Amino acid sequence: MNGFFLNYFEKGERSLPAILFSHAFPLNHKMWTGQIERFSKHFRVVSYDIRGFGASPLGETSCSMEQYASDLIALMDFLKIEKAVLAGLSMGGYIVLNTKILYPKRVSALILSDTRVEADSPEGKQKREEAIVKLKTKNLTEFADGFLKGALSEKTHKENPVLVNELKETILSSSIEGMCAALTAMKNRKEASDALRHDPIPTLVLVGEKDTITPPEAAEKMASLSSKSHLYKIKNAGHLSNVENPNEFNEYLASFLKK
Ligand code: MLT
Repeated sequence: MNGFFLNYFEKGERSLPAILFSHAFPLNHKMWTGQIERFSKHFRVVSYDIRGFGASPLGETSCSMEQYASDLIALMDFLKIEKAVLAGLSMGGYIVLNTKILYPKRVSALILSDTRVEADSPEGKQKREEAIVKLKTKNLTEFADGFLKGALSEKTHKENPVLVNELKETILSSSIEGMCAALTAMKNRKEASDALRHDPIPTLVLVGEKDTITPPEAAEKMASLSSKSHLYKIKNAGHLSNVENPNEFNEYLASFLKK
């Protein structure tokens, strides 16, 4: 697909409405396991590794949100899915916002979790550059610990060491090249309000109440752009809300999908 291979996981009857899940940086499709298991009875659920992550190769093309969106459409073509609910958390959210802008006819609803429509500020771009240098020159363990310190709530760090460790293992197994390519793509990404302002479609906005990377204020601003959006804050969760509080995340998702 799109000239190369993307690793994906699929569950649920092919005749059911499809939901595709795009993961956060610097993780892989397995972060959606709790949602795949819960929703596969009533939906055809698909999670995949973004190029350069998990088992998907980086390929030759340079990465951008537009490229990642085109990959997602290529995966839908490959799976013969004409239209789907697109869900994305953080970087996954940037991808589905771009997919809605570039391929509006392929998207029936949006689930935007712990993400934002704004482009990076000059300071944000500088931080991406520093992260790339760190990734290339320092040890990956230090990078993984630093990322997780900011991404997870204090409660998760204290009470769920198994999850913290699992996420750390995932980051340690990620490709440095893939992560650097994604940092550049995120640094260069454009503002994406048009995804919500133009031709609004049902949109669920979720955010961990303790998210400091894409905080609740960013979610509020994003939700205010669409007349068809609903915003909920997830208790006891930071930036990775679907794994930190899967029960609450899934409840909001279930009642949105029911409608
Ligand atoms: C992510 O979780 O995908 C990233 O933290 C997003 C970002 O750095 O903007």
